[in-house]
Amino acid sequence: MKKTERTGVFYTPESFRKERTMVKKAATVFVCQECGNESPKWVGQCICGAWNTMLEEKVMPAPTEDKRRRSAQDRRSIAVKLSEVRSGAQSRIDTKIGELNRVLGGGLVRGSLTLVSGEPGIGKSTLIIQAASNIAEEGQPVLYVTGEESTEQVKMRADRVCKGKQGNLYLMAETNMENIIDAASELLPCFIVIDSIQTMYSADLESAPGSVSQVRACANELMRIGKVKDIPVFIVAHVTKSGDLAGPKIIEHLVDCVLNFTGERNQEIRILRAYKNRFGTTSEVGAFEMAEEGLLEIENLSGSFLEGMEDGAEGSIATAVYEGTRPLLLEVQALTSPTNIGFARRSAIGVEIQRLNMILAVLERKAGISLVDQDVYVNIVGGLKPEGTSTDLAVALAIYSTAKRVCCTKKTLAIGEIGLTGDLRSVQNGEKIVKEAVRMGFERIILPQKNVNRISGLGGEIRLIGIKSLAEAIKVI
Ligand SMILES: Nc1ncnc2c1ncn2[C@@H]1O[C@H](COP(=O)(O)OP(=O)(O)OP(=O)(O)O)[C@@H](O)[C@H]1O
Ligand SMILES: [Mg+2]
Repeated sequence: MKKTERTGVFYTPESFRKERTMVKKAATVFVCQECGNESPKWVGQCICGAWNTMLEEKVMPAPTEDKRRRSAQDRRSIAVKLSEVRSGAQSRIDTKIGELNRVLGGGLVRGSLTLVSGEPGIGKSTLIIQAASNIAEEGQPVLYVTGEESTEQVKMRADRVCKGKQGNLYLMAETNMENIIDAASELLPCFIVIDSIQTMYSADLESAPGSVSQVRACANELMRIGKVKDIPVFIVAHVTKSGDLAGPKIIEHLVDCVLNFTGERNQEIRILRAYKNRFGTTSEVGAFEMAEEGLLEIENLSGSFLEGMEDGAEGSIATAVYEGTRPLLLEVQALTSPTNIGFARRSAIGVEIQRLNMILAVLERKAGISLVDQDVYVNIVGGLKPEGTSTDLAVALAIYSTAKRVCCTKKTLAIGEIGLTGDLRSVQNGEKIVKEAVRMGFERIILPQKNVNRISGLGGEIRLIGIKSLAEAIKVI
């Protein structure tokens, strides 16, 4: 097979590996921005499968014998018995932002490295400076390093969002990693913030800030100072258009927590979610509202998601998910309209497209409605992308409601997982979801029969309608 220079179409993993040995001799290499793989020449597709991700970087000279010995001495550790290791469970720092503490698993763990990512302008710096000033208020210094903004800009934001709590907050407009490490070693702060990792560089390397090797080297340095001096470090990172972390995936493995901050630009609600957490669950979400005074915690998240729900609207029904340690109530909306191109379009926000296709197939077979010539749109209001399958039934009922022009009343909530046979599976923590629905004033809950059997002693106005299949649910509405 002929191998081409400029495209990686015929570039097999074997030839890639063989030529990797040439990397050491070359003056420059091409590094994949996704996985960190190196190649001596440019290729269109990396062996990790990503296209157009190879960027040119200078090769680092191997460290001299002296330098290697010195760094080995720096990092020398001794082996200790596990039973003698001090447990870190108690040493969490309270950020005084309940929603952030919740996502972190109960507060900031000392010595931990946390990556905070999110789209531009979503509020990463705002959230972190609020947490930093809260921690600084306790009396110990906090170091906030800004590589993107001047100290004046940060001060302006701080004046707006954390008035009167700035006493021990130290600002530093710096991008050189060595200077930052020196400053941190001198100040010995109880919390370090790096905003953002893509602007930082280490003078040891010749490549540009934001390149794979720079990001990796800076993250390594930060991890070292964090672990050695027991200081928690927050690193802000940019995301690409597709929502992936810009720069190498490799630092996601390095850090202890990866937090992602999302939200709709035109709405005030912001959702903080952990994608990786070595000290807690990743199913927890934190909710905030962007306001003049910074990010405000939303205590009654279900209330804000259901705020605009109309009574008796076609194609709209309430549902619930259990996120981390609390139930969340949401509104599902669906719309069908005759297609005017060759094949019908399926579009979903907040629901996976494969899941939607499966629900549509079950609806067609088990509920007898035909949607082949209908475009289907589904939206989970509020911008949340719930994990789990408890929203299946509500999605199906919303589509049925819009297709058949029947209204579900506002006071009805539906939960349950739909199987391929049209049966309904029980959802976890059904009892807690029902209690939250009662609190929010719902009168009718359509849920799997198995869940109803486990719930007792509710009282009040609530009517639980236990069902076994999708067809039964359709009869109810
Ligand atoms: N006076 C204000 N009142 C209300 N909201 C404001 C005000 N000033 C800024 N904001 C909000 O703060 C957001 C910017 O926040 P922040 O700078 O923390 O975002 P960021 O994620 O750090 O952005 P970047 O990626 O540029 O660093 C703006 O998009 C806006 O929504
Ligand atoms: Mg910022």
